Amino acid sequence: MTKRRINILAIETSCDETAAAIISDDLQVLASVVASQEKLHERFGGVVPEIASRAHVERILPVIEETLRGAELGLADIDAVAVANTPGLAGSLLVGLAAAKAMAVALDVPLLGVNHLQAHIYACRLAAGRDVFPCVGMIVSGGHSNLYRCLGPLDFELLGATIDDAAGEAFDKVASMLGLSYPGGPSIQRAAADGNPKAYRFPRALLKDKERLDFSFSGLKTAVRYAIAGPGRTDFSAVQLSRRQVADLAASFQQAVIDCLAGKAFLALKKTGLARLCVGGGVAANGPLRERLEADARRAGIELFVAPLQLCTDNAAMGAIAVERFKAGQFESLQLDVLPGVVRRKG
Ligand code: KG4
Ligand code: ZN
Repeated sequence: MTKRRINILAIETSCDETAAAIISDDLQVLASVVASQEKLHERFGGVVPEIASRAHVERILPVIEETLRGAELGLADIDAVAVANTPGLAGSLLVGLAAAKAMAVALDVPLLGVNHLQAHIYACRLAAGRDVFPCVGMIVSGGHSNLYRCLGPLDFELLGATIDDAAGEAFDKVASMLGLSYPGGPSIQRAAADGNPKAYRFPRALLKDKERLDFSFSGLKTAVRYAIAGPGRTDFSAVQLSRRQVADLAASFQQAVIDCLAGKAFLALKKTGLARLCVGGGVAANGPLRERLEADARRAGIELFVAPLQLCTDNAAMGAIAVERFKAGQFESLQLDVLPGVVRRKG
């Protein structure tokens, strides 16, 4: 008799996407559903935590049902339930965790925890279809810009992180200054396509510091503000930007972020002596960033894995990392709690 496949239901509600996926122990994604909340947060220019958690409550069960239908499986076919329990927004994480615990109890199957940041890197492993470890892992998302030494899928050592804003956060805030729609990353990328990346000389904080693997994007954001409003002025409500100015500001800003991300990622490779780079998170969807990393990797002889577009922004398919935990027997008790917040370097 052939061994029956193990099916893991993964739940992801760490920020503003309500997502579920079913992944088998041979890493096949049998179904993956993402209910985006973009429309709900659009007019605020960023995620409003209370709105996010309420929307998760409304959507979580329909999303799970749709995932089961997509995989053509019933509840009895689920062998374990996995849930992202860190990092993220407390209220959002709690909705996913409560749903996961309830299902694990009702189905009498094990509960698995997923670290959302490790999952973003595991998206590269999932897409590659082969081992990508050991590697340098770079997570560039709305909440994080972190570099890790990843010795295995569950063995991460933080090497550097942003000391203020995350890259995605900077994209979202600068987009709002330029009157571009939320989320800022895709709209800045679109506007920048017609712009000159050298039109404005924006700072590349910490890039010349070859000791540190940290990022800082808050000064860049302020520099864009001054470029719009005039030196030392913060109020630009009366300023009317031309299409050309918006394109040039977007392109110059995007280039500054790309220079910092690529510069530090390759510094991390040099410092660790590792020869593989895995990149995940929403900002990894950025076309010019992907092209730059590919060019730099080719030149440096580095094996590059960037998550495919649909696995960059938040999704539950990357919860496939739970397969590693299942195989390692790392099950959670019903005491499992959320560990909200963002991951920053101490000191
Ligand atoms: O990973 P993600 O979906 O959520 C978090 O875990 O934070 O990342 C969302 C972030 C947003 O800030 C969004 O503006 C950014 O990813 N993003 C992009 C692009 N697509 C999404 N940033 C730059 N270029 C893009 N094409
Ligand atoms: Zn994320």
